[in-house]
Amino acid sequence: MSVVDFVDPHSYASACQPLTTHISLFLYLDFPTSTIHGAALVTVSDEHNGPFFLDTRLLTIHQVLNAQTLASHPWSLSPTVDPIKGQRLDVPLNNERAFLILFSTSPSASALQWLSPPQTFNKAHPFVYTQCQCIHARSIFPCQDTPGARICYKASLNIPSQLSAVMSAQHVDRRAPVPGETKKFGSNLFNFDFESLWCAEGRVVEVFEMNQPIPPYLFAFAVGELGFREVGPRTRVYAESVPAVLDAAALEFAGTEETIRQAEKLFGDYEWERFDLLVLPPSFPCGGMENPRMVFLTPTVIKGDASGAQVVAHELAHSWTGNLITNQTNEHFWLNEGFTTYAERRIVEVVQGEDIAALNIGIGWRGLNREMERFKENLEFTKLKTKQEGVDPDDVYSEVPYEKGFQFLWRIEREIGRPAFDEFLKKYIASFKFKSIDTETFLKFLVENVPGIEKQIDLELWTEGTGIPPDAYEPVSSVYTKIVSLANEFKLGKIPREDEVADWKGQEWELYLENLPKSVEASQVLALDERYRLSESKNYEVKVAFLQLAILSKCRDYYSEVEKTLKEVGRMKYLRPLYIALVQGAGKEEEKILAKRVFSEARDCYHPIAQGVVESIFAKHL
Ligand code: BES
Ligand code: ZN
Repeated sequence: MSVVDFVDPHSYASACQPLTTHISLFLYLDFPTSTIHGAALVTVSDEHNGPFFLDTRLLTIHQVLNAQTLASHPWSLSPTVDPIKGQRLDVPLNNERAFLILFSTSPSASALQWLSPPQTFNKAHPFVYTQCQCIHARSIFPCQDTPGARICYKASLNIPSQLSAVMSAQHVDRRAPVPGETKKFGSNLFNFDFESLWCAEGRVVEVFEMNQPIPPYLFAFAVGELGFREVGPRTRVYAESVPAVLDAAALEFAGTEETIRQAEKLFGDYEWERFDLLVLPPSFPCGGMENPRMVFLTPTVIKGDASGAQVVAHELAHSWTGNLITNQTNEHFWLNEGFTTYAERRIVEVVQGEDIAALNIGIGWRGLNREMERFKENLEFTKLKTKQEGVDPDDVYSEVPYEKGFQFLWRIEREIGRPAFDEFLKKYIASFKFKSIDTETFLKFLVENVPGIEKQIDLELWTEGTGIPPDAYEPVSSVYTKIVSLANEFKLGKIPREDEVADWKGQEWELYLENLPKSVEASQVLALDERYRLSESKNYEVKVAFLQLAILSKCRDYYSEVEKTLKEVGRMKYLRPLYIALVQGAGKEEEKILAKRVFSEARDCYHPIAQGVVESIFAKHL
């Protein structure tokens, strides 16, 4: 029997129960109540007699039915709610391979952000989108929400006919609801008539299929007034249907096909057929999310200077490292993000050049060192492989899996040389594609394929040890060194001259700011900004790094800009440092009051995951 053969601290999925292989979803999206009424036909890998556990969060379960007879099937929902895992749904099986669950989501489902028309660009129609990583798919439908339980799925989304839907899956149809297609879900099994809702006037059904097995965190959709532009043979850019937004996005991502080709040379064929991009509203909590066939992106990467290319390179790289080979649980998250950061930089090196790649490595190196400071009292999270029992992955999200993971792989590359490492990477991908693996599996494969590596590199120190190993490597390049030394001169009161920064773009400034002390004299902050207007930068990495410096330097002139920024974007990468800078440390009453007020006013515009992250920052510091 194929079973979950490991324990995931974030899931109720059990080691002695079968795996789900396929889910067929019927989802009725009700915008006025921010609710989805759904039916899930769940198919499991093997016959099984006994309990069968699924993860749910804030779901209302109406009924479970036998898939063949439609007779009611026993089920129970655990009375206790785990704050991280949610509620366990038990559907005890009696050798049947499929059953049907009728359920509704909560308006505060953690994966979903419902935007009312005024919260959209066009202000005419509502919008909804998902973000399921790491453990939020269970707030949309009951599932074994662990990356080891890969599923294929079919999804029929019933939506208002003025809107359209996209998914991280193949689009197979847009059609009118067919009377009778949901009849088996009964007229009284929900506490309303599902069939008559489904077939109501003004509704349309969009049908999607994902026939490649994916971990549940890669389930994704968005529904709204969407438009698109073709930018390549396998790439469209989708966004809210605003010509200016679509044009800017099409320009920003014009180089995507070339990037895919370069990536294929490095890592093997692109296996997902389409590589579409979806630009979300500013509240999208991530920079990018690697949903298969359709990457989700924050609009803050569209800056008109091709810098969105780095985020695209990263999410594209996940097509191999993350989506083909997936971390078995979040304790091995570095297998996703460390490999992807390495792969991203290899792509950037060919597409944008070695200097830019070196800059990115430098920015990452600073970030890694900063995280060591952040976790100095919680060293577990300076490890690559972490213990996450009782830990919410959103709370310990950091650059460690990205940058320490990158450093580890870069270290191996230096040891065996690039040609050998490239060959190893290709073989690794080919060997484990469509599998979910753990750190031990990777190490075993490494030692088998690179004999003697364990004598050259302390593999255990790298994967299980805390802190930054001594053989990690700060990048050297002339641009990097120059910027770091200019940053050091700032400590002595020197602001860089115009000729020294003449060709600086976002990343150079970002690296410069990252290398300044955490706080300086308020007058220095003002002087720097007077010359270079960093507080007005359209590049949010630069703007946020500058504002963070301003807050920590108690330069209160910028607090209205901080407030404005916190209210216009919902990307956690920007919310985290700004809110932390405001609330951290004693003697910051004014800042704490500001943080609380801004959050109370901005909260509704943030995705639920971002709301949770800010709330946990407050819980820790207030
Ligand atoms: N998979 C991540 C996003 C993520 C991680 C979402 C964990 C939820 C939980 C994605 O690939 C990512 O790393 N995005 C980065 C951008 C990238 C260029 C480093 C981000 O969102 O900042
Ligand atoms: Zn990533």
